[in-house]
Amino acid sequence: MTEHDEVVPADTGTDPSKPRVLADGLPVRPAAENELWLLSYYRSSEINGALFFGRVARTVRGPLQVDVTHHFSDEASHASYWTRCIANLGHTAIKQNRSYQDQYLEAAGAPASLMEVMAITQVFEKRVIGQYHRHLRLPGTRPEVRQTIQRIMLDERWHVKYVKDALTAMADRYGRELIEETLARYTAADEEVYAKTLAEYGDRIAFLAQTAARRSE
Ligand SMILES: [Fe+2]
Ligand SMILES: [Fe+2]
Repeated sequence: MTEHDEVVPADTGTDPSKPRVLADGLPVRPAAENELWLLSYYRSSEINGALFFGRVARTVRGPLQVDVTHHFSDEASHASYWTRCIANLGHTAIKQNRSYQDQYLEAAGAPASLMEVMAITQVFEKRVIGQYHRHLRLPGTRPEVRQTIQRIMLDERWHVKYVKDALTAMADRYGRELIEETLARYTAADEEVYAKTLAEYGDRIAFLAQTAARRSE
């Protein structure tokens, strides 16, 4: 039995012997499997955030040490919240392959200064907040998932704020222009990776739109 076999419920439409298909003939994966995939993706992404910030926390000196170490701890907590949420829904997380961060770092290049770390983080945190916001707005979102996102968002808002403040404070040292250029470079990398992710996993998150449509019927 594969991991997927364990989580796919017997939700195959009116005739359980036939898989549901879209108008264009593509099979519809049962929502529970895709939902579990997405929650596992979130968990994996939070783990990668914690690992990234753990490395930064280990080496950072100066006044940012307190905030960066707190940030590391928050991302580890977020991974724990998702793991608990998935467990409360009766599952274990699906193993993920390459993370968004891996591809993002590959496209953007590894940050070489604390300013670059803050810039890459600002762009990434905005992406995370946008995605969680989008998920939260959907009427079909389960209460456990909604509560987990709301709890995480409290910290994510602080992450964006302290990183923005840190970048503002770095203007004297690095120059406003270089910081803006760096942010633009990372934004372009993020958009490229997001487009690639949607192309690769779009069908995994299509259930979000389907769920919303069903609720509004
Ligand atoms: Fe997080
Ligand atoms: Fe964060």
